[in-house]
Amino acid sequence: MAKKIVIASGKGGVGKSTVTAGLSRALENEGKRVLAIDFDIGLRSLDLLFGVRELVVKNWGDIILGNCEKENAVIHVGDIDFISAPLFFNDEFTPEKVREMVHSFDEDYDVIFIDAPAGIAQGFSLACAGADAAIVVSTPDDVCVRSVEITAQNLKNHGIGEVRLIINRFIKKLSAKRKFLNVDQVIDLTTVQLVGVIPYDAKIGFSSMQSSSFNFKASSQKSFSRIARRIMGENVPLKL
Ligand SMILES: Nc1ncnc2c1ncn2[C@@H]1O[C@H](COP(=O)(O)OP(=O)(O)OP(=O)(O)O)[C@@H](O)[C@H]1O
Ligand SMILES: [Mg+2]
Repeated sequence: MAKKIVIASGKGGVGKSTVTAGLSRALENEGKRVLAIDFDIGLRSLDLLFGVRELVVKNWGDIILGNCEKENAVIHVGDIDFISAPLFFNDEFTPEKVREMVHSFDEDYDVIFIDAPAGIAQGFSLACAGADAAIVVSTPDDVCVRSVEITAQNLKNHGIGEVRLIINRFIKKLSAKRKFLNVDQVIDLTTVQLVGVIPYDAKIGFSSMQSSSFNFKASSQKSFSRIARRIMGENVPLKL
């Protein structure tokens, strides 16, 4: 049975989709069977990060609406499988139907990532419906940290007990100079257990997640690999 992890944040633009794509690549590299599902209805972006925008014909909405077989909505990105998000909401997209759709892939994968939209409204609730664990992504600043604290509480209200924290866009020098919060402060303020820290990396842009250009030697990619191994239960020391 797949571990189904929703990637959430509260605030927008903090790196949820980048983390979804990066962890998918890292787990693929560990030999895991990974499915990444974009749940940002109307504002999808994972197809761009994976470099497959022209291959998107169907999405998970089509599975729920009965417009296609589930296999026909899956796009192969190297050894990762990917399903794009619908462009519009539909009343048929209920938490029950989303859960059924996500769980229908249970036996085919080791990990299913669900890339949530920003905020804690309807789209977030749908993204939570199929998940049994969550990763909240925070940048090391007060505004984002508060939104993550609230999001973590919401995740628990949705019945997701296992919530872990990724600190993204971390700049060690600026943290040491107290320009940003340090790792301990982010953990204390969010009250969420840390699973990893990803450094600021100017080269992390969309093309870096395509199978041909993913560079496991880059500092951010090494962080993804360490987090991926922790997700699979390995004891990997924290490196900043
Ligand atoms: N570690 C990082 N270092 C540098 N830039 C980053 C890092 N992580 C993400 N970014 C950049 O930040 C921007 C937003 O990232 P991303 O789209 O993953 O955020 P998001 O949380 O999914 O946004 P949204 O809330 O709109 O879905 C992108 O331009 C991405 O390349
Ligand atoms: Mg996103």
